Amino acid sequence: MRKVALIGATGSIGRQAIEIIEAHPELELVAAASGSTPIDGLAPLTQVGGDLTELLERARPDVVLNAVVGFAGLPVTLWALEHGVDLALANKESLVAAGDLALAARERGGGLLLPVDSEHSAAMQCLGDHTPEQVHTLVLTASGGPFRGRTREELAEVTPDAALAHPTWNMGPKITIDSATLANKGLELIEAHFLFGLPYDRIEVVVHPTSVVHALVRFRDGSALAHLGYPDMRVPISFALTYPDRAATPVQPLDLASGLTLEFHAPDLETFPLLALAREAGKRGGTYPCAFNAANEVAVAAFLDGRLPFLGIADAVEQTLDEVDGTPARNLGELVAADREARRLTEQRAVAA
Ligand SMILES: NC(=O)c1ccc[n+]([C@@H]2O[C@H](COP(=O)([O-])OP(=O)(O)OC[C@H]3O[C@@H](n4cnc5c(N)ncnc54)[C@H](OP(=O)(O)O)[C@@H]3O)[C@@H](O)[C@H]2O)c1
Repeated sequence: MRKVALIGATGSIGRQAIEIIEAHPELELVAAASGSTPIDGLAPLTQVGGDLTELLERARPDVVLNAVVGFAGLPVTLWALEHGVDLALANKESLVAAGDLALAARERGGGLLLPVDSEHSAAMQCLGDHTPEQVHTLVLTASGGPFRGRTREELAEVTPDAALAHPTWNMGPKITIDSATLANKGLELIEAHFLFGLPYDRIEVVVHPTSVVHALVRFRDGSALAHLGYPDMRVPISFALTYPDRAATPVQPLDLASGLTLEFHAPDLETFPLLALAREAGKRGGTYPCAFNAANEVAVAAFLDGRLPFLGIADAVEQTLDEVDGTPARNLGELVAADREARRLTEQRAVAA
């Protein structure tokens, strides 16, 4: 039996995780948490909001699935890594914001860090036991979101409803907006850097509209390995929760005779500047990735509330990154301070807009 603690149980990932757990008798849901939605009876131990590490202390799980959205998931990520409890990580924002601190905690704790993001789950499988020197480049695919092919002018007036209509993935609102701006791929780029120890100039992003190839690794010998499958988050969730067993899921095998075509394009960095801003923040290091994430969270919330236009999200993030000093955080307190400062700067901008 594997005892699972599911944090963020009411969200898009959380609900799909419950389906996977219910289908596998060897997985036992021992604890569940949400931010504010009542979840009485969902698991033997439940908690709504507050310090979720208290729930983890009581539950003592074998694996934590962190499916919280945003920086709020950080204490859960750090608790699992520090305690050597396997971490199935959907909450990419925590690894982006706290990359160095999180890796140090994993080093001390010694547990597994299993990505649930489909691209990183795919990349982990393609990379296998290869060393970074054997890898030429890691390629992350992006669907391009609902506004692929549009110009900047065409995006000036888009509404939250239009941005929430994702072509291939059905996800929570924050990541859906991040997919429309390509900030999601920017977060994933930084996440991949920390997960796989590759420098940024060896991680490439390509637009692949059907989301069938999730990641591809080019090796130094000229070969490349790709991971394919229909876009369905139950696959990477199941992979992480049942690792290394690769248990069965209800997802259909890929039908190659159905006329499947694989199309790839370079991303349009001018129309979607958040991808380039994330790369820049990642390369600068220190608390720049933390500031990128914080500014983006605030700007996305302001867009969804009607306080910022769509193009204002990237403008707000860019200005915040220009203003913060990006000094590396030596501890959690300094990281939280960097996150707060970036939020404060971006909030001012959203109020003024
Ligand atoms: N959805 C996907 O397909 C997908 C794919 C790859 C990666 N991810 C990543 O997975 C994470 C979750 O995404 P999602 O789409 O599932 O989001 P979502 O549908 O918005 O769900 C978010 C979950 O987080 C909980 N939550 C929010 N604030 C919290 C807080 N302060 N403390 C504790 N719990 C809190 C919510 O609880 P309440 O219901 O109480 O608000 C909810 O259970 C994100 O980091 C996202 O980037 C998602």
